[in-house]
Amino acid sequence: MANSKSAAEKTFVRGLEGVVAAETNISWVDGIHGKLYYQGYDIHDIAEHVSFEEVIFLLWNGRFPNRAECDRLQLELASEMRLPSQVVEMIKLMPPSAHPMAVLQTAVSMLGVLDPDAGNNSAEANLRKAKRLVAQVPTLIADLHRIRKSLPLISADPKMGIADNFLYMMRGAPPIEIEQTVMDLLMVLHTDHGLNASTFAGRVIASTLSDMHSALAGAIGALKGSLHGGANQKVMEMILQIGNVDMVQDYIAGMLENKQKIMGFGHRVYRTEDPRARHLRKYSEMLCELKGFKELYDISHKVETLVRESKGIYPNVDFYSATVQHALGIPADFLTAVLAASRTAGWVAHIMEQYADNRLIRPTSKYTAELGIKFVPMEQRP
Ligand code: COA
Repeated sequence: MANSKSAAEKTFVRGLEGVVAAETNISWVDGIHGKLYYQGYDIHDIAEHVSFEEVIFLLWNGRFPNRAECDRLQLELASEMRLPSQVVEMIKLMPPSAHPMAVLQTAVSMLGVLDPDAGNNSAEANLRKAKRLVAQVPTLIADLHRIRKSLPLISADPKMGIADNFLYMMRGAPPIEIEQTVMDLLMVLHTDHGLNASTFAGRVIASTLSDMHSALAGAIGALKGSLHGGANQKVMEMILQIGNVDMVQDYIAGMLENKQKIMGFGHRVYRTEDPRARHLRKYSEMLCELKGFKELYDISHKVETLVRESKGIYPNVDFYSATVQHALGIPADFLTAVLAASRTAGWVAHIMEQYADNRLIRPTSKYTAELGIKFVPMEQRP
């Protein structure tokens, strides 16, 4: 067998674990110490102290906004939340069985076709597209939910931020104060997370100089999978299926015995607790208690204890975000889409960063089959 492969082609890292594939200023995950930084700021100093809009400004500009800049961004985003009527019509045409992430991906592609800056890949146009996408994705999710429930659509209130507006447009009434705090925190914690699979997918697409909407649609497709963002839906379904705190022991023991993965646990980078889980655990307990879902929090907590003790693995962001979102009234099949709405701000930050210093991302593969096989024409094949 001929072998003309170079040494570089033979260096294969399964799942690209530990491979450095991009340079970024946006965020950094320190998996050994369980730390997450946004533009150098520790997530624990940001969470519960700053709004989603402040985080968006930080990720896009490398510094926090002053009051006037923050107010301007909030107003700009709120004014971009309305969807083109063609997109609303398209959502209505989607079969009820379509997963919200599939609808979201399709709708983002359609927004790209209709975008006033379609075909313009300048930095200025991309910043305008980024703002529109961050504003429109929450509306897509809220509108899809209301269309499926045959409820009238609700327009964003320009006085509210993205997180408040999202709950308002989805549920039809402005959120109470604790819900505002939790929704904003949820979006802040999910905004960015280093070179995760969907962000990488988005950067790969951007590196071909394809447009921002195409890169975002690709990132949404990657997030949908259950090893990535899709895990939060699986977590919620598991907790609801367990249903009773007394059933946790047998349920988890059965899963581990069958070598099944427990969704919402483990991580490629963290070797200790995901720092975002600390905040979500606290608000899961508070909100579940307040909304009459105490049993769901208790089940989660017992699952966490058992999985930690038996497998030595920790909850990731998706584990407690599931019950937090459930207590906010978000249905299980919409949980990943809500994560996508938050992550859109991070994705577009990475896409703009990629465009600003681009080189085509085109790795190579380790070829594992034979080379130089003799060609046999069709009429001579057995
Ligand atoms: N439940 C049970 N065991 C798990 C586990 C989980 N959630 N996550 C990892 N493990 C175990 C694996 O079985 C494996 O054990 P082994 O070496 O005895 O075979 C070991 O830990 C390493 O796991 P692996 O899947 O190879 O790690 P990875 O880095 O490729 O995968 C994830 C990382 C996130 C995909 C993985 O932890 C997972 O599937 N988690 C559940 C899905 C999830 O919550 N995803 C959201 C991530 S934010």
